Amino acid sequence: MVQKTVSLLFIAFLLSCNNNDSQEDSQSSTNEKTNDKEAVEVDNHSYSNIEEVQTEHLHLNLNINFEEKIISGVARHEMKNNGAERAIFDVQELKIDSITTGGKNNEKIAEYSIGESDELLGAPLTVEITPSTEQVNIYYQTKPEAQALDWLDPSLTGSGKHPFLYTQGQAILTRSWVPVQDTPGNRFTYTADLQVPSELLALMSASNPTSKNDSGSYSYEMSQPIPSYLLALAVGELEYAQLGEQSGVYAEPHMIDAVASEFRDIPKMMDAAQDLYGAYLWETYDVIVLPHSFPFGGMENPRLTFATPTLIAGDRSLVSVIAHELAHSWSGNLVTNASWNDFWLNEGFTVYFENRIMEKIYGKEVADMLALIEYQELEESVDQMIANGNAKDTHLKLHLDHRNPDEGMTDIAYVKGAFFLKTLEKAVGRDKFDQFLRAYFEKHKFETLTTEDFIKYLKVNLLEKENIDFNVDEWIYEDGIPDNVVTIDSDRFEKAQQLAQQLKESGTFPKELDREDKTTQEWLAFIRAFKGELALSKMKQVDEQLNFRDSGNAEIMSEWFILGIKNDYQALRPDIKAFLKKVGRRKFLRPIYQTLADGSEEDIAFALSVYEEARPNYHSVSYNTIDEILAEHQ
Ligand code: BES
Ligand code: ZN
Repeated sequence: MVQKTVSLLFIAFLLSCNNNDSQEDSQSSTNEKTNDKEAVEVDNHSYSNIEEVQTEHLHLNLNINFEEKIISGVARHEMKNNGAERAIFDVQELKIDSITTGGKNNEKIAEYSIGESDELLGAPLTVEITPSTEQVNIYYQTKPEAQALDWLDPSLTGSGKHPFLYTQGQAILTRSWVPVQDTPGNRFTYTADLQVPSELLALMSASNPTSKNDSGSYSYEMSQPIPSYLLALAVGELEYAQLGEQSGVYAEPHMIDAVASEFRDIPKMMDAAQDLYGAYLWETYDVIVLPHSFPFGGMENPRLTFATPTLIAGDRSLVSVIAHELAHSWSGNLVTNASWNDFWLNEGFTVYFENRIMEKIYGKEVADMLALIEYQELEESVDQMIANGNAKDTHLKLHLDHRNPDEGMTDIAYVKGAFFLKTLEKAVGRDKFDQFLRAYFEKHKFETLTTEDFIKYLKVNLLEKENIDFNVDEWIYEDGIPDNVVTIDSDRFEKAQQLAQQLKESGTFPKELDREDKTTQEWLAFIRAFKGELALSKMKQVDEQLNFRDSGNAEIMSEWFILGIKNDYQALRPDIKAFLKKVGRRKFLRPIYQTLADGSEEDIAFALSVYEEARPNYHSVSYNTIDEILAEHQ
């Protein structure tokens, strides 16, 4: 693979002349913007030295080997070098074969060392370079246990015939499948050449094929600069269905029609999003529905949102997750948090934006119910964090140093963040706020921002300009939810809660309880209104009349299962077991396993026995979390 000819040594100095000029031009504006920053925030979750030398373009040439569960090949980094003598990359359990510097036909072997490996961060890979080095090529292989990678046996796919592979990079897992400077503080464009088994289709967070070819080799290009956590790959038996001019869906053949139907509003969502905050700058927008092990509801990989099949409820009731991932095309992918402590800049803005898209398409009543359910969850999370002595975790600006950035994935970044923006919106009026957000995305597109950068921008461009007094610091640096938070009312929501109360108190089953006419949020409000307590006879009544367990709606099912566990309603056990064995989405797994772990001896035994069978079906993101929940019982 690596050509070690001696002649290369002599012509190595030619490298600096060997640049792709247009690439340089398109990159320089981005970097100037980044260098404008007053203070460079240090990302404590990366070993990389991006202030000295940073990847501007990455080319991947990789072979995907399903038999051995290994990705192997080369990562070619074209770097902007400010005179550095070493380039530091992040690696997590990668096998490095060799490293060279220089362009393709001019490669020269480079010295490198791998530092001590930290369980969370992996290890620094330090490559000796010279101040004029502009390309570093890392020949490497992944290990079968790579944390980002989920290699699925055929039995875990729809057809049962072909294996499947997908990656999950956010927050710091990309380093387990590509050696990169794995910090959101840097952005680069990328291209890739992949070789996969010819019966499979491979897709990336880039320009994508819509059908298979006979050779199994594919090329990709992402011409907008992205942070490393958005590098993504999915390989499987996949089909494409077009939805609009710029958008479509990918899924395994058995569900492609259902997926296309469930997500048929995507073109409308794109129109709504662009009306709100400006042009979509990523060319195409597709969604791929992955097998059930995918640990999240959705992941905003650019041009290709990754989604869980639990969204396919049959009635479009869970499409707000797609609105969310689409919204990340602005908040997160265009304007990116500089470190994981600034995670709310990604997620808070996105939840706010998601709600605006939902309101535009499905109306205010629906959007308000979505926000209200989230607000309830936020209040609960805040109370819990404060009760557990973790009040600092309720600050929008997080303190995640030496912790897994995953711990920042709470209602604080998402919902407190969104309610901060909703409260600001109310203070200045919607028109002004929308203008402000449009200008914010335009001004900071393809940049990374710290919370402090945002505060400064907010003060200058909105609060001082409009002469508005607002408790920004309280929202961002203090405990809990400030008193000026906007409140949301929903009659339908209250009605659902009243029906629960009625059922709990009276001997009869309220007539208005009919599954047809209620949204997911109303049912969640209904189930939660029991506050974990419902007599067995009534559990049974609800089960028989409303049949939540067969609703096909994972949000409702998981909420109902939790109530069932708390009230020892044994009839649900087979369904809970089937659900836990099938679904790998952590949002559902965590509270179910947690409720079992907090329960009786019998609950714990049930959890352990189900988990033993189910764990191999989960992605590392999910099984690491569940391992912790069950650790003390094993
Ligand atoms: N970017 C997140 C997923 C994520 C966050 C992965 C942090 C790894 C680390 C994604 O956009 C997301 O927020 N997904 C949510 C859905 C949403 C509607 C709240 C999910 O998966 O539940
Ligand atoms: Zn998100």
